[in-house]
Amino acid sequence: MAAHRIGLIGCGWIAPFHVAGLSQLGRQGEIVWVADPNPEPALALAREAGARVIADYRTGLQDIDCAFILVPHHLHAQVTIDCLEAGCHVLLEKPIANSLAEADSIIAAAEQAGKTLMVAYPHRYKKSFRLFKQIIDSGKYGKLIMLDSLMDDSVEGYLAEWMTHKATLGGGCLFSASGHQLDIMLWISGDVHAAYMVGTRGRVPMEGEDTAACILKFKNGSIGVVRHTWASPKIRIWYTMEAMCEKAHLILTCTPLGDQNTEGVNCKWQTRIVALGKQEELLLESDEGLDLAPEIEHFFECVDTGRRPETDDAMARKVSAVVLDAYHRAAVDEANV
Ligand SMILES: NC(=O)c1ccc[n+]([C@@H]2O[C@H](COP(=O)([O-])OP(=O)(O)OC[C@H]3O[C@@H](n4cnc5c(N)ncnc54)[C@H](O)[C@@H]3O)[C@@H](O)[C@H]2O)c1
Repeated sequence: MAAHRIGLIGCGWIAPFHVAGLSQLGRQGEIVWVADPNPEPALALAREAGARVIADYRTGLQDIDCAFILVPHHLHAQVTIDCLEAGCHVLLEKPIANSLAEADSIIAAAEQAGKTLMVAYPHRYKKSFRLFKQIIDSGKYGKLIMLDSLMDDSVEGYLAEWMTHKATLGGGCLFSASGHQLDIMLWISGDVHAAYMVGTRGRVPMEGEDTAACILKFKNGSIGVVRHTWASPKIRIWYTMEAMCEKAHLILTCTPLGDQNTEGVNCKWQTRIVALGKQEELLLESDEGLDLAPEIEHFFECVDTGRRPETDDAMARKVSAVVLDAYHRAAVDEANV
């Protein structure tokens, strides 16, 4: 299979993770150009990727077959539609868009173009989360009763201007980043029957909530608890996902061993899965962190075979719909102020 010809659109914080993921996959993909109206990060990324720089992605679409879209959320719909209409397959950073109407216009454009559209929710493609789900599904520890997740995060040294406004971010931390938890929960427990949230502005200068809690009732009867903060004074475990089953708690933890905001792609990690039942069992210990290679590999496989991505546009729309629905209820109750 010939290497995919890739254009990276947006050269900000997440972009080096895509370059690192592609470099791990070797000859599967070649970065032809990187695009950003801001030349400084674009030149640095281009050097790293061995690619050329363009200021306007629209001038390069004829030279690529795959576009990786890594831009602020309010631009997701327009950039994705442009790329699909130009005949490119698209890997789009989460969330799909800032409204369900925009999500629907993206879905219609993908259908019309007949191209692969995958939304980048990377965690479910990692070995650790696949093992976590496999253990739950095996029933070894009995029925799943509750999923409980905390993302203990800080945006210090990372917060860009567009993240401080609801119009550009789409909401607060729940809308922007809890998709990482919701995607895993919907993957494990299925569709949501009802969702409620509360939020607060702790210490981050942004319009949306910087700290949120959301509870979910799944159609299968189980429940979910999502807690998320961007205001953490000290990141301990960055991502915890606990599955309380009848016979044990299964606990997946993903811990940065440095400062992920400033070290970025060079930050080292420790990921563990333990089962706490009658005894404590260590089921996995690895250095897996925010590794995008498995997600990108899945994207290429879908492009090559025509298979639908696991995190396709419909799945990503469901994740955003849960948050927007919970926001709507919280607005009525004035519970997100
Ligand atoms: N998967 C993850 O864990 C993860 C983590 C962080 C961010 N993200 C997602 O990645 C995307 C980008 O986030 P970020 O943190 O890198 O933001 P960022 O602000 O660091 O970078 C965004 C970049 O896009 C550029 N840009 C703006 N308009 C553009 C245009 N028209 N064409 C090309 N580039 C343009 C900006 O100049 C900036 O360099 C968002 O969707 C975000 O949610 C995902």
